[in-house]
Amino acid sequence: MKTVKLSIIGFGAVGQGVARSIVLKKEALKKQGIDLRVVGIADSKGCEVNANGIDLKSALLRKKENGCVAKGAESAIDIIREIEQDIIVEVTPTNIENGEPGLSNMTAAFESGRHVVTSNKGPLALCFSDLKECAEDNGLIFRYEATVGGAIPIFNLVHEALAGNTIIGIEGILNGTTNYILTRMAEERLPYEHVLREAQELGIAETDPTYDVEGIDSACKLVILANSIFGQSATYRDVDVTGITKITPEALELAGRNNYVVKLICEAGNGVLTVAPHLVPRRHPLAVGGTLNVASILTDLAGRITISGKGAGSIETASSILSDILYIARNS
Ligand SMILES: NC(=O)c1ccc[n+]([C@@H]2O[C@H](COP(=O)([O-])OP(=O)(O)OC[C@H]3O[C@@H](n4cnc5c(N)ncnc54)[C@H](OP(=O)(O)O)[C@@H]3O)[C@@H](O)[C@H]2O)c1
Repeated sequence: MKTVKLSIIGFGAVGQGVARSIVLKKEALKKQGIDLRVVGIADSKGCEVNANGIDLKSALLRKKENGCVAKGAESAIDIIREIEQDIIVEVTPTNIENGEPGLSNMTAAFESGRHVVTSNKGPLALCFSDLKECAEDNGLIFRYEATVGGAIPIFNLVHEALAGNTIIGIEGILNGTTNYILTRMAEERLPYEHVLREAQELGIAETDPTYDVEGIDSACKLVILANSIFGQSATYRDVDVTGITKITPEALELAGRNNYVVKLICEAGNGVLTVAPHLVPRRHPLAVGGTLNVASILTDLAGRITISGKGAGSIETASSILSDILYIARNS
């Protein structure tokens, strides 16, 4: 039996999803020879540490009832540096101004000899090459499947299943909020402001929706894809971005009459990085509706491969994180 020790840094929707998925899969994984033990959990108020493995069900209950996991006053950085462990799961909020606290957490993890798994886009949209180099210099694995497309295994597909192919280009819809807004506007012939309010009431859009509707969230995901797949060292500021705020119900209706839909499409290839609304034929594989995400990868050998699925959600995002944890468990 291989024991793999890890800490979860950030215990919100994704961190709790990771804990729940480990509880759900613990016995099945033991049958495959892997014993996953969470030895540290941190949120913004404090942390819990147990070298023998935290009781995840009671940590989840305490978080639900008290709003915090804190049993000790150590900081996330203390946990990362000081506990004996293999992997840091970094799932604190995305910050695209300076990447913090995720950037310092990931750097501390590599400097302390821990592999990193993350869903946090900020540090990767700003400093992808530095982080990759830091991992490589320390002989460690850096996995970030959940940063782009939530549950959709895009990096796994490209780096493992499509290994040997040259990737010519990638296009896709990488933001569920804008896809929901455009889908509802087209279906119900409603104005942007009305659908945005509805999305906010349903918890699909943030109170401040700027990053989503202006295309910045999509741009962050696109640069992570481009850097990882094409070896670029772009930041989200290198993406040519147009959001969806100026799209009218009339434009969507006209597109619909001609059997098209309007989608916020991300494109990478030939060194070009763009996020912009595009007309897409209604039956095209990219024309997914609601909050779905989709990625279409053009390769030299396999041709075009398109995958779609849930781009967000606590347990869906944890699916990608668990897959990265297991990759490390099997390959380190
Ligand atoms: N939610 C999704 O479906 C989804 C999908 C893909 C990627 N992501 C990305 O995954 C990350 C986590 O998302 P989320 O939805 O779980 O966010 P969230 O619900 O806001 O949770 C963030 C967690 O980080 C904690 N935190 C904040 N500052 C911290 C610090 N300095 N040290 C330790 N913990 C700190 C928060 O503590 P408190 O609990 O005390 O506030 C909270 O537990 C984000 O980067 C997000 O962009 C999310």
